[in-house]
Amino acid sequence: MQDTLDYIEQFTDGFKPEIGIVLGSGLGEIADVYCEYKIPYEHIPGFSKSTIEGHKGQLVFAEINNRKVVMMQGRMHYYEGHSMQEITYPIKVMKKLGVEKLILTNAAGAVNKSFRPGDIMVITDHINMMGANPLIGPNDKTLGVRFPDMSEVYDKNYIKLTDKAGRILNIDIKHGVYIASSGPSYETPAEIKMARYIGADAAGMSTVPEAIVANYCGMRILGLSCITNFAAGISNKKLSHSEVIETANNIKSKFKELILLLIKNI
Ligand code: HPA
Repeated sequence: MQDTLDYIEQFTDGFKPEIGIVLGSGLGEIADVYCEYKIPYEHIPGFSKSTIEGHKGQLVFAEINNRKVVMMQGRMHYYEGHSMQEITYPIKVMKKLGVEKLILTNAAGAVNKSFRPGDIMVITDHINMMGANPLIGPNDKTLGVRFPDMSEVYDKNYIKLTDKAGRILNIDIKHGVYIASSGPSYETPAEIKMARYIGADAAGMSTVPEAIVANYCGMRILGLSCITNFAAGISNKKLSHSEVIETANNIKSKFKELILLLIKNI
């Protein structure tokens, strides 16, 4: 960790971020527009490379609306073959850099039949179906407790602020439960039906490990899903990453406006 922090320090002139943002598939544009310092993951000690299309793989520091922000332009995924510890390491790094507020974003499929591609959902809770937990292993007491409480992972006040921002920007903000599976295959129709029965509204392959670690570290979390497609079995269409990226591209300016307003208010 000290090597990681020392390396980052060399490029950021003592920049102390207060807000962290993880930008999901196709949602990285804000870090192209606002960028004071950027460091590719492959150069940062302890970081694994993010390998998939739609993800750039760099840490971007910028002041946005008078708030100091660090953004992950692209994240690491469990399905890439990284361990749960590896994909959540950047969250611990953000914590050590001073981040207390975290915005997690992702692209997700609609499980709730009233949702449509192009919708934005604020995450109210999650279901971990990844079959693993990033906190497995020895506990680092300096970061958090062995058995962290998970009864309010997503900050209630941030959810209200998101609704308020939605009203200002004329975006109908959906609320829902995000369910994560490991991927990389999309879910089957039977799995999505099960997800709906057990209370999920949107399905994806990320965010949950980061939310677990950030909650464990005592960060306040806001989660946003861009609904990019109907999940399996809802429409006749087959699922594809190109559809996910295409819808994310269509929503990205609306999404960026929302994030900019939230940065101001959280
Ligand atoms: N399922 C899982 N992950 C996803 C989906 C989906 O339908 N869409 C975007 N990411």
